[in-house]
Amino acid sequence: MLHVRRSFMVLCDRCSVLVFYTAACFALIHSCRGQSEVIGPLQPVVALIGDDIILPCNLDPVMDAFDMAVEWARSDLDPRFVLVWRDGVDLESKKHPSYTRRTSLFTDELKNGNISLKISKVKLSDEGTYKCFVPELNKHTTVQLVVGTWQLLRAMLTKQVSN
Ligand SMILES: *[C@@H]1O[C@H](CO)[C@@H](O)[C@H](O)[C@H]1NC(C)=O
Repeated sequence: MLHVRRSFMVLCDRCSVLVFYTAACFALIHSCRGQSEVIGPLQPVVALIGDDIILPCNLDPVMDAFDMAVEWARSDLDPRFVLVWRDGVDLESKKHPSYTRRTSLFTDELKNGNISLKISKVKLSDEGTYKCFVPELNKHTTVQLVVGTWQLLRAMLTKQVSN
């Protein structure tokens, strides 16, 4: 009888170890699943005044972002928002006035996790650091925008030629 009880306890010890590992595995899988990263470009985006440009930002692995909130912001501005996408709508009233009707997302691309920002008719004052943030994932990336003028470009090219 004692023997039976002992072997039952040994068995139970083993099974509690098994239960522990199974639980740990599930916890690990759960914490990794569905946790896309927000990915931006490694290099700054360079634009000339008046250009229409794209600041790249993507969810990787791909997740449908259409029903998610997406915020593009510059922390040096007040209000800081460049674009706010919520409930399938671009909330124009949230934008900093200098970006009114100049920023948009590619709505057909959202389902591919492409939350890149389009800025039309770039101004010199658009230069700065942009944050691409997905509240639901609590993840963000930053994208640097450098704005040049034709004079600057010509100066750089001239310098390159003379070197
Ligand atoms: C995201 O969409 C824009 C606009 O269509 C496109 O230029 C860009 O290549 C897309 N990015 C990716 C990673 O597919």
